[in-house]
Amino acid sequence: MLFDMETLDLARSYKLLSSTIVPRPIAWVVSQDAGGIVNAAPYSLFNFFGGHPPIICIGMGQPKGRDKDSLANIRATGEFAINMVTDSLAHAMNTTAVPFPAGVNELEKAGLETLPCARINGRRIANSPLALECRLQQIIDVQPSSVIVVAAVHAVHIDDECVKDAARCHIDSSRFSTIGRMESPGWYTRTTDRFVMPQMSVEQWEEGLGKHD
Ligand SMILES: Cc1cc2nc3c(=O)[nH]c(=O)nc-3n(C[C@H](O)[C@H](O)[C@H](O)COP(=O)(O)O)c2cc1C
Repeated sequence: MLFDMETLDLARSYKLLSSTIVPRPIAWVVSQDAGGIVNAAPYSLFNFFGGHPPIICIGMGQPKGRDKDSLANIRATGEFAINMVTDSLAHAMNTTAVPFPAGVNELEKAGLETLPCARINGRRIANSPLALECRLQQIIDVQPSSVIVVAAVHAVHIDDECVKDAARCHIDSSRFSTIGRMESPGWYTRTTDRFVMPQMSVEQWEEGLGKHD
């Protein structure tokens, strides 16, 4: 079946892409307003786009043309932390997606503790095994109703038990039990079903190496 994106309205075109570009990692964004009130919300239009400089991007919608609280905070302070969502934190993450009014601390509602960040003025989620401390670089307007937040990662916190070799930055990501976002409404996936498939030279491919089960 062919879907012509030029004829689809925003809701349908969003549904089509968000149901097909799966799984998506979830950036659990902790930001604060100019007065220091902390806010948390999940964003799955997220990935990293380069290692050096370390750049991440997040797509944020603007319902009825208005910034979500995370975006308003990022505009105000230029700083935020991205926390990884593990299986055990899934329900708490979902609580932080409830559209509470601005000024409500979703972290308290979700029963989450925070810790101060090291390089930015902000907080991160204490129970999350991974947090990226980010500084805003650019906000790209995608008319008419969303933006792409481009930010540089200034520090990464990883639970000690997930680090295999700190000097070489070898991380055991199987220990994270990360979840990913699937199609609406409300589908997620676990990352516990894994297989390895090494990159191959032409010779290795000709020898039939690297096949997975
Ligand atoms: C798993 C998940 C992923 C989400 N991803 C996005 C996203 O990428 N962009 C977006 O605008 N909203 C996304 N949302 C919706 C926001 O989390 C929701 O609008 C939230 O209330 C925004 O909170 P804030 O106003 O405190 O920033 C997502 C929700 C969930 C549950």
